[in-house]
Amino acid sequence: MKSNPESRFNLPIPDAESKAHSDRVSAYICQIIEKNGGSISFSEFMHHALYAPGMGYYAAGAAKLGRAGDFVTAPEISPLFGRVVARQIAFVLAQTGGGEVFEPGAGTGALAVSILEKLAELDVLPGRYLILEVSADLKERQEARIRSEVPQFLDRVHWISELPADFKGVVVANEVADAIPVDRFRIFDDEVWEARVSMERGKFVWQFAIAPEPLREFVRNIEIDIDRAFKNGYESEVSRGLGNWVTDICNAVQEGVVLLVDYGVSRREYYASERVQGWLRCHFRHHAHDNPLLWPGIQDITAWVDFSMVAKSASAAGMAVAGYVSQVHFLLNGGLEDELNGFTSLPLVEQIELAAQVKLLTLPAEMGENFKCIGLSRGDIMAPPALLASDRAHLL
Ligand SMILES: C[S@@+](CC[C@H](N)C(=O)[O-])C[C@H]1O[C@@H](n2cnc3c(N)ncnc32)[C@H](O)[C@@H]1O
Repeated sequence: MKSNPESRFNLPIPDAESKAHSDRVSAYICQIIEKNGGSISFSEFMHHALYAPGMGYYAAGAAKLGRAGDFVTAPEISPLFGRVVARQIAFVLAQTGGGEVFEPGAGTGALAVSILEKLAELDVLPGRYLILEVSADLKERQEARIRSEVPQFLDRVHWISELPADFKGVVVANEVADAIPVDRFRIFDDEVWEARVSMERGKFVWQFAIAPEPLREFVRNIEIDIDRAFKNGYESEVSRGLGNWVTDICNAVQEGVVLLVDYGVSRREYYASERVQGWLRCHFRHHAHDNPLLWPGIQDITAWVDFSMVAKSASAAGMAVAGYVSQVHFLLNGGLEDELNGFTSLPLVEQIELAAQVKLLTLPAEMGENFKCIGLSRGDIMAPPALLASDRAHLL
């Protein structure tokens, strides 16, 4: 495959159709930049690149998730992930005396399918499985997948367009928090500057300006939290949208548990002095790299999650942290071994396939350590087993 000379990540070159799509998205963003006097904040750029109506990466029809797309998520890798999540849901619903499941950002519907199958096996299917999806394209794919793989549950799945009110049950969101647009900052002359996006000779480029007061204050508050001032040259991201998103979800929950799974770390690790270039991660055709300005509309742009921020926003909304564990511990504590009962009686080729899935989900160098699950609870609810052993909530 030809590689892209622009990139030290040896990225493949987009095909002509994808390139034409990205050119349209670029022209759209360029117009916004011009209207805005020559630059926009990075969070605005990320928002348009991912969600511009009918055009952004999530809004348009690119494959995105799965082998033909740009990245795979845990539920896409294996139904084992959703089956373990379903065990935690069953544990919570037994305490709340029933309730519903709510999944914001359901991707291709893979997680919904495996959760519904396992809940049916456990005989605790909820009356409703709610999905809130911002991408019209993915919403269609979710419905088609559920209709084809578990048609018997389709009438329980409801697509909603705003957060439910007075929700009781379990909210589960996998890899949604990382898709929320972030702002980027750099310290120059002991002052906070904002990384903005401008255009030069047909290419998006970074431009720096003194940070507006809300961003400056946000960054200065982080320094207070971590007891350290950032040094000149330090660059990172802040996700003000993440805090609002968590607060809104928590406010919607009257009783139950919220499970958020994503790649991320505690605030002290996020803003460690040696982490001088931040946490952006982009995905293009299964290549991960760190240049979010390349090919808007055809590559995924994400930022690792500051889980302390999640915990803080949740506690401000009156929810407690029920646990914070790495994905490997979430799966092992939560019943992965039981899910593998009968493994040795499977045909060899299935055993090999399952073993490969388990490795991807659990090995530290794969998803096991980088991904964490935080559980938030409201009401008199015991934490689900997956969150109990190796809890790192004290780090948040
Ligand atoms: C990386 S994908 C993860 C999909 C799926 N949860 C999985 O694990 O396979 C991110 C998903 O979140 C959706 N999304 C992003 N922001 C959202 C928001 N604010 N509310 C609901 N969905 C959102 C995207 O459209 C997409 O479905």
